[in-house]
Amino acid sequence: MMEKYGKKIGVFDSGLGGLYIARAVRASLPQYDYVYLGDTLNVPYGGRSLETIYQLSEAAIRFLFEEQDCDLVVIGCNTASVTALRKLQREFLPQNYPDRRILGVIVPTLESATELGATQIGLIATEYTVRSEIYDEEIVKITPRAKIYGQPTPLLVPLIENSGEKYLDMVLEDYLTPLIEKGLDSLILGCTHYISIKDHVRELTRHRVRVLSQDEIIPPKLKDYLSRHPEIEERLTQNGTFQCFATDVNPSYIRNVEKLMGKDMPISKAVYDFS
Ligand code: DGL
Repeated sequence: MMEKYGKKIGVFDSGLGGLYIARAVRASLPQYDYVYLGDTLNVPYGGRSLETIYQLSEAAIRFLFEEQDCDLVVIGCNTASVTALRKLQREFLPQNYPDRRILGVIVPTLESATELGATQIGLIATEYTVRSEIYDEEIVKITPRAKIYGQPTPLLVPLIENSGEKYLDMVLEDYLTPLIEKGLDSLILGCTHYISIKDHVRELTRHRVRVLSQDEIIPPKLKDYLSRHPEIEERLTQNGTFQCFATDVNPSYIRNVEKLMGKDMPISKAVYDFS
């Protein structure tokens, strides 16, 4: 296959959550051109098989590389990061796009936590992300004296998606109290959906732990990455554009995009083969 150079930064998530990350990245690095892709047709990824999550992630990356001329893609979704990232980086990229890059959110999040001195780190995430133990594996490489205390929080995504905020206190108390009692110094919100409730979590934990939210972590980490990789940075175009795609442009997605990005943000349907 002929390698053609892309120019934009892609951000991919299973649904809407990654848009918080894309919005924060754009605010921090407004000069670049961005393409956001939410796989709203296949969300949630959380309960799917490993094989399907990989397939959906690879298909989304192909769309961003081939149809949208992205040179660099950030997988905002934790579930896709823990499941698909290693194989994408080790097999898919070298075989197909050796000059392009795919970044995840796990390692930058853990680096950021340890830079802040965290050693007793709570993690709330989808069942899949916690059970994968990728956070546990990666932290040992960064600092062996730190420990991850994972807690699957499967009720949060449906509550957030279905305007169930009034039940959040009860559910969060239940999930967080035993976790915090383990003596945490920090708590990672390890799912893009949870960014929307970060203030709520901070309030509820009464600031006893440092709540780490990926919309605050990824922008400075990406900036640092680009400064260390001029060969990538120099290829990126700088027209300050932002395009928003979804595999299903449904009313709830439109409403949420308007809330986050303003009413003038056009949303296009992304059509590509998932298999
Ligand atoms: N966006 C996913 C994540 O960050 C959660 C939602 C899903 O299950 O697709 O893990």
